[in-house]
Amino acid sequence: MSQMEDLCVTDCERCPALVDSRSRIVNGVGPGDADLVFVGEAPGAQEDERGEPFVGRSGDVLNDALRDVGLARADVRITNCVRCRPPENRNPTSDELDNCEGYLQTELDRIDPELVVTLGKVPSERLLDRSVAVTEEAGDVVDARIGDSSRRVLISVHPAATLYDRSQRETFTDAIARAADLAGVRETDGGQTSLGDY
Ligand code: URA
Repeated sequence: MSQMEDLCVTDCERCPALVDSRSRIVNGVGPGDADLVFVGEAPGAQEDERGEPFVGRSGDVLNDALRDVGLARADVRITNCVRCRPPENRNPTSDELDNCEGYLQTELDRIDPELVVTLGKVPSERLLDRSVAVTEEAGDVVDARIGDSSRRVLISVHPAATLYDRSQRETFTDAIARAADLAGVRETDGGQTSLGDY
């Protein structure tokens, strides 16, 4: 079994409401040894249809912010607290978050990234186990106990927040740039030749 397959949940019936509402289980994507792991809340309609996290409008915002720091989506791992789409896109319940927690912990343990980035309130509060004011705390880095491991976590607003409130755009892009720097994965502009070189 490949490392990627090893990180996939192929069959789970722990949450009756989600078994009814999902088309499929949406597993994380990206390298099994990524330095940077982004954790969202739960799949939405497009993610449920395509079987991949963050492929709708929020995904476009995330992809753009990654590109701004020289990263491709394929360079990072992208996953969710809950792997099945909740009905009508409601927030996952605490039971559903509990049921899926072990999968996320195992995924993080296997990948052992330099940094975990929480995208929005639900994953931030879940992984930090406290209430989080995401807009005020965006860009903050904290140590969190996740399963049996201590992990560095950077708090971010959810990319969807930038679609409803343009003022959140800079908060989001700044958090992603800080995450890339802290994880040591930011691409420097090595290809640019200055006029001084001629
Ligand atoms: N929002 C999330 O939190 N996760 C997704 O996969 C898509 C949108």
